[in-house]
Amino acid sequence: MLSVLKIQGGVQLKGEVKVSGAKNAALPLLTTCLLTDQKMVFKNTPRLSDIFTLVDLLEKFGVSSGNFDQNTLELKASNITTLIAPYDLVRKMRASILVLGPLVARFGEAKVSLPGGCAIGTRPVDIHLAGLKALGCDIEIDQGYIIAKAPKGLIGNTFTMPVITVTGTENLMMAATLAKGDTTLINAAREPEIVDLANCLIAMGAKITGAGTDTICITGVPSLGGATHTILPDRIETGTFAMLAGITKGDLKITNTNLNLIPGVTQILTNAGIELKEEANGFRATSTGKINGIDIMTEPYPGFPTDLQAQTMALMSLCDGASMITETIFENRFMHVPELCRMGAKITVHGSSAMVRGVKELSGAPVMATDLRASVSLVMAALAAKGETTLNRVYHLDRGYENIEHKLIPCGAQIERIKIS
Ligand code: EPU
Repeated sequence: MLSVLKIQGGVQLKGEVKVSGAKNAALPLLTTCLLTDQKMVFKNTPRLSDIFTLVDLLEKFGVSSGNFDQNTLELKASNITTLIAPYDLVRKMRASILVLGPLVARFGEAKVSLPGGCAIGTRPVDIHLAGLKALGCDIEIDQGYIIAKAPKGLIGNTFTMPVITVTGTENLMMAATLAKGDTTLINAAREPEIVDLANCLIAMGAKITGAGTDTICITGVPSLGGATHTILPDRIETGTFAMLAGITKGDLKITNTNLNLIPGVTQILTNAGIELKEEANGFRATSTGKINGIDIMTEPYPGFPTDLQAQTMALMSLCDGASMITETIFENRFMHVPELCRMGAKITVHGSSAMVRGVKELSGAPVMATDLRASVSLVMAALAAKGETTLNRVYHLDRGYENIEHKLIPCGAQIERIKIS
């Protein structure tokens, strides 16, 4: 069922808004069920379409999923019937590649469709594959599928990642938990989602040190057991809500999260004119009434996240002065620019940088979501704009924001979801 969001802008958002569990932590965490025949229980699991897509894929392998009420999800992989991840499911979501490491580690083989490119860039998986090869896995590409084989099991090794990759680090860390001997991952990603995954794996019996630094050491164990794990709060949703307070000149108490999750972001938000104050179970984001132009460059954690770049651009479109936004992670992550310009923003792109000249006012317009973060940047712009915006292709938004309109309507947002087919 396709839907659009009709948004009336111009309301200052005020009230309390709760952050969900992190999508990008939940995705690798759910695949840990493939590493054990025991039950895994995940609390604070966001009910998002990306999560349902992954659960569908896991069920295809024979994983049984228990209740998914109240954000708790149970998974058990004691009866795996196939090791093939088909194109139809993988193409829906690139993060499906996260099943590769766990499957080959526990079962000695897997056949996973190559994810292909996506709207924000080409996004190869060569480093995931090179890392698995370093662990003794035989990799072949045949008719669009990765065929991975390690019939005698994986063998620990030292592997240096040529580029920092988040899911690559996660895939290899999971694979190494069941390898023989020691693995050292050098130039590893340091995102909080990596630490959350490592904590869950440790609770399952894995031996891991260094998660959260650029060198992760894993000593393989013969088998892993089940665990119950609470997924950490979504830092991208956290930052998005803080910026929503800024762009609507509002005042939001943002709960079920904490400012320590966004170290590379807080100073920038403060400089932009959003006051941040820690409170019990979260923090308060209050607009100072002004949006100051600031410059950002996206970087791997703890730098400024690419997943908050589009939202920052929406905020900056209403700044005093100008802002320079440089994207260094993905080569094509400026698709929100023409849509924001349709709402009156003044943005010029030069290569990987965008010059945003602040305007006094945005005006509502029909716009099109092109990817997850682009879509929420348009929701932000629409909530600040004069008049009505219709956001098409809302399914992009539903991949990563749980019940966004239900969360924002109590804070004064005027958003209506309309089914169109
Ligand atoms: N790269 C390679 N080869 C590889 C892997 C990555 O060249 O084998 C390159 C990529 O093309 C990119 C850079 O390395 O230029 C970093 O990509 P990374 O692998 O870190 O991205 P990812 O793991 O595919 C995750 C998040 C993304 C987020 C990026 C960067 C998940 C499920 N996805 O993707 O989240 O943008 O890290 O922080 O964790 C989103 O939630 O909207 C989203 C796109």
